[in-house]
Amino acid sequence: MSKNNIVEVTNAEKAFGDVRAIDGLSFDVKPGEIFGLLGPNGAGKTTMVKLILGLLELDAGEITVFNLLPSTDEMAIKQDIGYVSEEPLIYKSMTPKELFNFTSSIRKLKPEEVSIKLQRYLESLEAEQYYEKLVATLSRGNKQKMQIIAALLHEPKLLIMDEPLTGLDAKSARVVKEILELHAENGGSVILSTHILEVAEEVCDRICIINKGKAVATGTMDELSKLADKAGADLEEIFLKLTQQDESVNLIIKNLRKLTGNSNNM
Ligand SMILES: Nc1ncnc2c1ncn2[C@@H]1O[C@H](COP(=O)(O)OP(=O)(O)OP(=O)(O)O)[C@@H](O)[C@H]1O
Ligand SMILES: [Mg+2]
Repeated sequence: MSKNNIVEVTNAEKAFGDVRAIDGLSFDVKPGEIFGLLGPNGAGKTTMVKLILGLLELDAGEITVFNLLPSTDEMAIKQDIGYVSEEPLIYKSMTPKELFNFTSSIRKLKPEEVSIKLQRYLESLEAEQYYEKLVATLSRGNKQKMQIIAALLHEPKLLIMDEPLTGLDAKSARVVKEILELHAENGGSVILSTHILEVAEEVCDRICIINKGKAVATGTMDELSKLADKAGADLEEIFLKLTQQDESVNLIIKNLRKLTGNSNNM
């Protein structure tokens, strides 16, 4: 436990009916760190992110963000967070320009400073031509770019990004990874939720592998390699081994091949 931690999660629990979405999860996020929440579909990543944001309430355990409680200090915490949700932008009848004006005025940002940042981000993500188009008419990837830009304008201490690269082309994904790294280099922190192993491996300083609401392992890539008793292995092997999916994946592939008549290729 450290007063300097940006986020501290201690024995967090959250259930939806019979489903224990978060089941005794603990981790912390430090200043200047890109922290990955990595896990298969349904592991509990989005639930964890929503608990940190105060959008869901814990059943048990404790979460602090900037040493405050999301349940009681939601507004104070949100001022210093930039959030990119899993769902695409919801403000479909707005243009990105209107959306940015709206978020900037809520956050009381200086228009001249916003305008410089906007220009830089729109250019680097090649999205200038969509600035005044209705969100409803944008492609999925371009909606995602606008959501990412909106989360960056107030230079939050903590960026929380739930599957931020979904739908982005390779070049834009590269630029977003660079933006995250720059944010961390400047002392900001990032929580990156992803099921994509390569993304976590490439971008994150530390990774918490989640499975069925539990932390299977937390550490740097080197530490995870050692934990998996497979030093030198790539993260995919480590991930499948730690989430005990390696054997079930082989079985699924075998069954799929049988289904498509390719069983001889095994
Ligand atoms: N509002 C809800 N009501 C009921 N069950 C829910 C709700 N939200 C999440 N769950 C369940 O909680 C578990 C964790 O879901 P969550 O969305 O956190 O997973 P995830 O790791 O983000 O998955 P994905 O990679 O598919 O985004 C799942 O079993 C899910 O069905
Ligand atoms: Mg999710």
